[in-house]
Amino acid sequence: MIFWRLSKRIQLRPVKLCLAGVVRSSFRSHRGLTSQAITSELPTGGAPGGSLDVLGKSYPRDDHSNVPGKILSKVGKNLHNRKHHPLWLVLERVKHHFYQQYVGPFGTPLFSVFDGLSPVVSTWQNFDSLLIPEDHPSRKKGDNYYLNRTHMLRSHTSAHQWNLIRAGLNAFLVVGDVYRRDQIDSHHYPVFHQLEGVRLFNKHQLFGDIKDGEPLQLFEHSSRSSHKQETHTLEAVKLVEFDLKQTLTKLVTHLFGEGLEIRWVDCYFPFTHPSFEMEINFQGEWIEVLGCGIMEQQLVNSAGAQNNIGWAFGLGLERLAMILYKIPDIRLFWSEDERFLKQFCVPNINQDVHFQPLSKYPALVNDISFWLPPQNYSENDFYDLVRTIGGDLVEKVDLIDKFEHPKTQRISHCYRITYRHMEKTLTQEEVMHIHRSVQARAVQLLGVEGRF
Ligand code: DAH
Repeated sequence: MIFWRLSKRIQLRPVKLCLAGVVRSSFRSHRGLTSQAITSELPTGGAPGGSLDVLGKSYPRDDHSNVPGKILSKVGKNLHNRKHHPLWLVLERVKHHFYQQYVGPFGTPLFSVFDGLSPVVSTWQNFDSLLIPEDHPSRKKGDNYYLNRTHMLRSHTSAHQWNLIRAGLNAFLVVGDVYRRDQIDSHHYPVFHQLEGVRLFNKHQLFGDIKDGEPLQLFEHSSRSSHKQETHTLEAVKLVEFDLKQTLTKLVTHLFGEGLEIRWVDCYFPFTHPSFEMEINFQGEWIEVLGCGIMEQQLVNSAGAQNNIGWAFGLGLERLAMILYKIPDIRLFWSEDERFLKQFCVPNINQDVHFQPLSKYPALVNDISFWLPPQNYSENDFYDLVRTIGGDLVEKVDLIDKFEHPKTQRISHCYRITYRHMEKTLTQEEVMHIHRSVQARAVQLLGVEGRF
């Protein structure tokens, strides 16, 4: 499921493997309730009402600030740049492929790679620069981590497209950590990594080889209502779409090998048109691996590249690594356990790695039920709270029961929290300690009434 797509293929539980924990829909978690500012009371690495310090810069807090300290502690970890980490390994393979396949005029790589851009971006970069409307659900506080009203932890690497085009680049890859508030399970983690690709073409690059007499154009003017509009010509769209699909097909074939079955699904993003998702057939199941499309010309023009037409794509690195190396749980990417990390210490990046699961320690399961407050309750606030208190011991949180009292109309939720340590057996006492604190903090911060 792609973050910006307008269809709702997934409801409470994913019905098919989607880009969970990687690229996902904010619509899935769009539950029509506004998020409460609970997180200003959770540890955030700065005095309440003061400011938040991230990567050496200070951001004044306001009523939008909702980044818990646990999340801030992930900023700067840059797992994708850590040698021999599985995310680094996939990324090396992707980079290598692009360097080999696409060579610039002087034998230099065509695509520039940016793997160290700050994950703190302005809301303008994350949304407005990509033509995402003011009232779009993907901007919700309940789905994003805001430092304040003007700055946030990027929710996708697309946030850098505009600035890099503005800087004069016409072929680039951006890799980085992205942050989204979401449910918790083996495929969802509030921090994951994306790879963005953009390529622009001018008329000469696109039509240079075609010599059929007719001078081909990138744009044509169509007059819709009163004002004139510039649109792509059919020839230009066809060629760019072909190049995009070919580029991405080659990439996944390089990663997964020949014989891979893929399919393209039409979809919607505010910043591309037409837009597609690529799905690959993995062990009989269609799995979405990326979103892409032809860039909206308004975006390209406003970034100062008006004589160009371009494509863009975004894919989730955890998703690729989980399929490639058969990694069953997204939390493992954050593991410091040598038994995990050393499996990826291979001398050659193309070497097959088939991850051997660490022995699974038993899970402890505890339920929690409460009456929701009359307003301002968001499930993501609860998931954040559980994650803040339980950290990586929380394997998943499932909403297992919803109940509306026939007389009072009060709503009750029951969540099942699965606790499991990746590296040892948890004791009942350890878990009860955490669980009780989840109960207490839920009452205190979310205004729920416990049915404990
Ligand atoms: N940013 C999108 C997401 O996170 C993925 C994406 C889709 C990126 C299409 C693109 C694109 O560059 O053209 O869901």
